[in-house]
Amino acid sequence: MDLTTPFSSLSLLFFISLQIHFPVRASGYFSPFQECAPFVCGYIRISYPFRHIRQPRYCGYPGYELDCDGFNPILYMVSQKYQVIHMDRSVQILVVARSDLSDSICLETYNETTLDLNLFNYTSNNLNSTLIYNCNSWPTLPSYYRFSCPESHFGYFILCVNLSNLLPKRCSSIVHVPISKSEPIGLPPASAGIDFGDNISDILNKGFEITWIANTSLCEDCAISGGICGYDWTRKEFNCFCRDAAYPATCHRTPIPTSVPSMPPVPAIIPSSMYAYSHLTCGF
Ligand SMILES: *[C@@H]1O[C@H](CO)[C@@H](O)[C@H](O)[C@H]1NC(C)=O
Ligand SMILES: *[C@@H]1O[C@H](CO)[C@@H](O)[C@H](O)[C@H]1NC(C)=O
Ligand SMILES: *[C@@H]1O[C@H](CO)[C@@H](O)[C@H](O)[C@H]1NC(C)=O
Ligand SMILES: *[C@@H]1O[C@H](CO)[C@@H](O)[C@H](O)[C@H]1NC(C)=O
Ligand SMILES: *[C@@H]1O[C@H](CO)[C@@H](O)[C@H](O)[C@H]1NC(C)=O
Ligand SMILES: *[C@@H]1O[C@H](CO)[C@@H](O)[C@H](O)[C@H]1NC(C)=O
Repeated sequence: MDLTTPFSSLSLLFFISLQIHFPVRASGYFSPFQECAPFVCGYIRISYPFRHIRQPRYCGYPGYELDCDGFNPILYMVSQKYQVIHMDRSVQILVVARSDLSDSICLETYNETTLDLNLFNYTSNNLNSTLIYNCNSWPTLPSYYRFSCPESHFGYFILCVNLSNLLPKRCSSIVHVPISKSEPIGLPPASAGIDFGDNISDILNKGFEITWIANTSLCEDCAISGGICGYDWTRKEFNCFCRDAAYPATCHRTPIPTSVPSMPPVPAIIPSSMYAYSHLTCGF
């Protein structure tokens, strides 16, 4: 701490109590500064408000924990596992895909897609798609795509149609999965008698968009000042972890570059307009 800057006895107390919470490592760096460094999973660089589940709690905002399977960050939300396919910090958007649908659309348990609305919200860039399982017969409805699963009768994939009142008599399970509007359609015209299981899987694996709600505006200034963002879960306050201590907003000292591990290059995002296909719409 820079002793030339004036500080009241109150802020000294604050400083001391932080030191008790977060011991300084033998290396001389304030340990949360090192422990909370961003981590890279696949091509995605993860940092505040997210933390790796094995990083200390104070590295992230409560609720935003991610694992890593070696390829993608993994998000657990309302007893469902999601792969994080893309993260755009500037607009606070994650693209996520349900892990249980990643290999096959044939499910063992028919869990709904449920967001934790305290942490995330849908963007307006999604469509609602519906998977219907174990159907004995089929009502006359707009376009749909048929698939079959080893253990069941036929199932159907439908976009945007509210089927809740039609289904119980004919099909046993229904699962809603949002899909991103900006993905290429990837489906030939619907036609009876063809199994579209693989094609539907491809679409679902592209994921859908969710925003994270936490206000991370303080984090930018902290990062610019050379700090690592964190959160005091007890006081419910933002923390800026610096080389020497935790500060409420920014590091007091001159930022020292190269504090963050170098990252692999992130693949360029292809603007959706460059796709050769038409885009998904309701009622095609
Ligand atoms: C489905 O939900 C149940 C309970 O909510 C959970 O235990 C189970 O792991 C979920 N299944 C999958 C494949 O995510
Ligand atoms: C979530 O999104 C909906 C629709 O886009 C919007 O009306 C609502 O205010 C959002 N909720 C929060 C907490 O941002
Ligand atoms: C999809 O539709 C179902 C049933 O109408 C609804 O419960 C769910 O919230 C919708 N999901 C999205 C992302 O709009
Ligand atoms: C779908 O239809 C059911 C029954 O008609 C209705 O209760 C429900 O609110 C509808 N859902 C949406 C999202 O419109
Ligand atoms: C649909 O899936 C089949 C079988 O995997 C594949 O040959 C075909 O190219 C797919 N169609 C599209 C439009 O992706
Ligand atoms: C986010 O937090 C900052 C600092 O506390 C505040 O100035 C800003 O208004 C907040 N933004 C939103 C959208 O709540």
